Amino acid sequence: MIKINQHYQKLQASYLFSNIAKRVAAFQQANPDKALIKLGIGDVTRALPEACVSAFHAAVDEMASDATFHGYGPEQGYDFLREAIARNDFQARGADIQADEVFVSDGAKCDSGNFQEIFSTDIKVAITDPVYPVYVDTNVMAGRSGDWNSETGRYDGLVYLDGNRENGFIPALPEEPVDLIYLCFPNNPTGSTATRAQLKEWVDYARANKALILFDAAYEAFVQDETLPHSIYEVEGAKEVAIEFRSFSKTAGFTGTRCAFTVVPKECMAYTEGGEAVSVHSLWNRRHTTKFNSVSYPVQRAAEAVYSEAGQKQVKELVAYYLNNARYIREKMEALGYECIGGENSPYIWIDGKGDSWAFFDKLLNQAAVVCTPGAGFGKCGEGYIRISAFNSFENVKTAMDRISQHL
Ligand code: MLT
Repeated sequence: MIKINQHYQKLQASYLFSNIAKRVAAFQQANPDKALIKLGIGDVTRALPEACVSAFHAAVDEMASDATFHGYGPEQGYDFLREAIARNDFQARGADIQADEVFVSDGAKCDSGNFQEIFSTDIKVAITDPVYPVYVDTNVMAGRSGDWNSETGRYDGLVYLDGNRENGFIPALPEEPVDLIYLCFPNNPTGSTATRAQLKEWVDYARANKALILFDAAYEAFVQDETLPHSIYEVEGAKEVAIEFRSFSKTAGFTGTRCAFTVVPKECMAYTEGGEAVSVHSLWNRRHTTKFNSVSYPVQRAAEAVYSEAGQKQVKELVAYYLNNARYIREKMEALGYECIGGENSPYIWIDGKGDSWAFFDKLLNQAAVVCTPGAGFGKCGEGYIRISAFNSFENVKTAMDRISQHL
């Protein structure tokens, strides 16, 4: 008899964005004439930067001739891309990351979801709340979460680090020992950002406790405040205790093109039952080369073009466009009397809806035909909030905010 992985039975409802998609589909079926504006899932809407498109085309042309054709590439990514990443994203900011510590992949969602696989199932996992659901669900699937507790609305075996208005959605360090810590800054969903000093506290905690930080920096391109770090490796000691996930999705419009990378410094160690140190880099390399066959050559060439002079200029314009939407959304919501955070160094605006967050979601959907994301979908501490994404055209954002203003 074929048996299931029992841990899947502990997963709560459907994955957040599938749940939203079902409600949206039902609304569209019932209201075929209403033009819906989607400010829910953070999916980009603008075309790829011209520099990426040209590099993409040229690489496709190479694939069209036997002389320049590429078959399987190196699983970890082509050197041209790994070197461009290490040089521009890290060394240029004073972080000593080398090209062979960069693993190119097809998404930060996959990498941040898969990375836990290389650790024991009996480690203690800490997640912030609200949280990007992938970190939680992949640990549930792996059997690390314990049972779902309907009284607390949480998994018994996970350590939840509460984010709230009082701490500005920057949770405090755990009060009990933990082994694996998921952090995301600029934060999805709240848009909060962490200073170097705040990250340093986490790095110090991890060093003192032989813990490891999984740092999701998928939104770093949106950081405008020059005092804020873009990478956890800008903090001293982080190379010993932190893995960083990055993506071209939000930076350069690659959600449908697929290219991301994970930095695994060679200093990072995890431990055997007997306390012997093992290189996390070699474990991840083993896992990655076994289960992944690299990103396509044309896509890696398109990603490399992000670092060209023209690419950098175009990517900055793209980010500025979405940040202008974010500013507009935040201003409008504040004018309507809603408290907001985010939207300044992040494409997400986190709004205190002053009530049930799914009810607020349904109200915006049914009355304004605008899709947002209910905060409760990101955890217990998200209850009462909604997230509005700035990823859409300015025209749509403006129409959406006009409609919201009419109905709230
Ligand atoms: C989000 O809306 O939170 C993101 O688009 C999800 C993702 O990047 O997977």
